[in-house]
Amino acid sequence: MAPPRTSRLTGFYKLGVLERRRRLLELAGLPADGFAAVDPGALPLEVADGMIENVVGTYALPFSVAVNFIVDGIETLVPMAIEEPSVVAASSNAARMARPRGFTTALTAPVMIGQIQVTHIADAEAGAAALRAATPELLAAARRLVPRLAERGGGPVALDARVLATSGPDGGVVVAHLHVDCRDAMGANLVNTLCEALADKVAGIARGRAGLRILSNLTDGRTVTVRCTIDDAQLASDDAAGPDVRRAIAAASRFAELDPYRATTHNKGIMNGVDAVLLATGQDWRAVEAGAHAFASLSGAYRPLAVWRERASGDGLDGELTMPLAVGTVGGALHVHPGARLALELAGAHTADRLAALCGAAGLATNLAALRALATEGIQRGHMALHARGLAKAAGATGDLVERVAAELAASGDVKADLAREVLARLSASHVVKESP
Ligand code: MEV
Repeated sequence: MAPPRTSRLTGFYKLGVLERRRRLLELAGLPADGFAAVDPGALPLEVADGMIENVVGTYALPFSVAVNFIVDGIETLVPMAIEEPSVVAASSNAARMARPRGFTTALTAPVMIGQIQVTHIADAEAGAAALRAATPELLAAARRLVPRLAERGGGPVALDARVLATSGPDGGVVVAHLHVDCRDAMGANLVNTLCEALADKVAGIARGRAGLRILSNLTDGRTVTVRCTIDDAQLASDDAAGPDVRRAIAAASRFAELDPYRATTHNKGIMNGVDAVLLATGQDWRAVEAGAHAFASLSGAYRPLAVWRERASGDGLDGELTMPLAVGTVGGALHVHPGARLALELAGAHTADRLAALCGAAGLATNLAALRALATEGIQRGHMALHARGLAKAAGATGDLVERVAAELAASGDVKADLAREVLARLSASHVVKESP
């Protein structure tokens, strides 16, 4: 499927759900019933029952599309599933600021790490050395187990061994790392299978007992780096000039670099975007979360995954995010979950690399939006405006009444369901009176 001719959809949020679907179907070239994949009941109970244990139902979340993204020069619709208001609006807004250059990405090869632990080795250093010496033989054995992956350009690519303990309750302990290029698979099953199959051989070479055999979610060999550059003119808000916002965002970035308490929240803002795409596209978001935070701590201190610097020429801001992103466009939940397949279609993400690039771009976008809001008016005003719109709709407002009720609620500072109903009743009555002869 070709990319949409544009993702710059002005006023998309003001449309009704059906009209939004219509525009996306046309832009993404999907079949007319494309959105049935995210309608209630799209995941049949029998299918859900086969996915996990003790199933008693299916669980829905809002499925949405962030707009305005350009990623590596390609107009891109970014599907998101998330319960938190503002994330979709904020990332669409940040993606608009990043236009026309958009986000550029650089990825490492999709290499995952499998760990084989060997315990009770009398001489751990000698055990590790023996494993290193046996690398060609072990890699050849591993490759024979995944011939089809090798045909697709992937497969086991390296092996190393580290001594974890020379004595102690488990004796001498060595861990062997098998590095596997998983191509378009996330790779958990693949890597776990390889580790289990090789464990006895590895333990024999190291002269110890095979312990755990499992992938590591610290996938620091499979990272994405995303960059964008934002002009001052884009950063300006109603009450703050662009250069002031630029300086404040750079200062907020330094705050995160100095303080792990702030870095954690900064990274949470990044994961808002990343997780929303992961969830929509059926990925193992717990794996990415675990890897992201471990990666953030690799230097010994917990660090921000993205930083923002004032441009050397002094008229804009450069943002850069690097994080591990183990995702897949084959395997996992994808063969059974229709919503996840639709999300990948909408995103035009047919390879794991492309999906990782979009996740990273969404993360950098949500980070920028959060820092801009925090550096200017704070995040509550935006949250309240969206919450007010939600309450107006829940009270029964439709059409332009949604915005009018929401505006009154937000202006009153009392964004509550009761008031939404009251305002709607009053505005609807005046609407009827006006139309009467
Ligand atoms: C809220 O979900 C995310 C933020 O707290 C992120 C941040 O503080 O950077 C707004």
